[in-house]
Amino acid sequence: MNSDLDLRDNLRFPGRSVVKLARELGFIPSAIPRGRVVLTPEQVLSGVERLWSQDDRIIDAFEQAFADYIGVPHAVGVGSAKAGLAMLLRAMGAQPGQGVIVAGYNVPEVPAVLKALGMRVLAADIDPTNYNIAPTQVVRYAKQAEFLIITHLYGNPAPLNVLMDIAHAYGLKVLEDCAQALGAGFDGKRLGAHGNPCIFSFGMMKNPTALGGGMVTTPDPNIARGIRDQRAGGKALSGTEMARKLLSGVLLSAGTSPVVFPWLFPGLKVMERGASDLVYRALKSRPAQWEQGILDLDALDLGMHPAQAAIGLAGLGHVDRLTGARQRMVRALKTALQGNEGIGLPGEVPGARPAWTNFVVTVDNRQVVKKRMLDCGFDTTWGYLAAIDRIAHAGQCPNARRMEQKNLYLPVGATRNTGIIERMADCLVQAVRDGKA
Ligand SMILES: Cc1ncc(COP(=O)(O)O)c(C=O)c1O
Repeated sequence: MNSDLDLRDNLRFPGRSVVKLARELGFIPSAIPRGRVVLTPEQVLSGVERLWSQDDRIIDAFEQAFADYIGVPHAVGVGSAKAGLAMLLRAMGAQPGQGVIVAGYNVPEVPAVLKALGMRVLAADIDPTNYNIAPTQVVRYAKQAEFLIITHLYGNPAPLNVLMDIAHAYGLKVLEDCAQALGAGFDGKRLGAHGNPCIFSFGMMKNPTALGGGMVTTPDPNIARGIRDQRAGGKALSGTEMARKLLSGVLLSAGTSPVVFPWLFPGLKVMERGASDLVYRALKSRPAQWEQGILDLDALDLGMHPAQAAIGLAGLGHVDRLTGARQRMVRALKTALQGNEGIGLPGEVPGARPAWTNFVVTVDNRQVVKKRMLDCGFDTTWGYLAAIDRIAHAGQCPNARRMEQKNLYLPVGATRNTGIIERMADCLVQAVRDGKA
């Protein structure tokens, strides 16, 4: 496996040098997308081969490889992380009316799934220094809850040891939302290997993408069986739907590549300057209802498509290399931005090894900052996370509300060049100054 990867890297190396040289000579303008959809030719081909396949053995192979990667006995391939969450909670014995503590700054589909199961959503505010659920806020709701969901937001691990102590003290059942955290670690082990069931996602911008689909991992064979039983009774994507996903994945992968994106950037810049979230809205696949906490569980695909398993399996071998590159870029960016007034950087709790699926800072006046960043050739976004206290049964989350207003995603996953990262940092510092003026 390793020698394969080395060989592929070497083969790609001249291509990358040519692009770099062409950019330095001014043949290719420099522009960095908010994120890259990374799909290797091997992933595309193995997906195409299985578009209309009924053979589930590739799903078994992906599950085994994933379980080995995490270091956990069981992994079950599912239609999405949210479908996995619904099946996992049922397999853990969740009942309508029971309370679930969740991070107050979250993807809206998580509380929406809980509400669809008839559970009570208890929104615990986040710690503004790392954007993850604050242990003191978990304690506040612990007596009203049966479950605790620990989300490792942006691939930056939450304080797992502190949260587990609280969960034990109050008898809470724990599951971890690792949808953004594949490749991250805590206390020397990968997230997913700390004894709790976990959900993972392979959405379009994830590492690796499988163009959708998810995985539930667990050390408990009964939970794994419970999920498999539910999955067997549910629906999965058709071959035609999968083909459509594959086509949009290939187009987005090409469109966010270093060679094509700079040519699309001027158009994007005009659109984004006019209405700052136009691109997000155009690409958005999330129904608006989820933001109101409404989700139809029967509409979810429970099973993973064989093509998704093939694409995910072919991508799994690249996860650590891509994560390592992002970690290096974030180190360079944090060093360059440290101590700059007006730019909030995410901290790391002791024992955390973040994967930085997203690197998000907080700034005031982000409309101005975003426009200035566009002028420097950097596409940024404020994503789709929300303060979910609005749709929760209990909880007030002022820190999550502030985060919602101030967050800005910096495109660290779209370059491996620390020179570009330094330029990004300089531009951000200046943009924040302009925002204040
Ligand atoms: C933290 C978190 N949880 C859950 C989900 C849902 O994942 P999926 O789209 O696979 O259902 C996401 C999606 O991005 C996420 O970021």
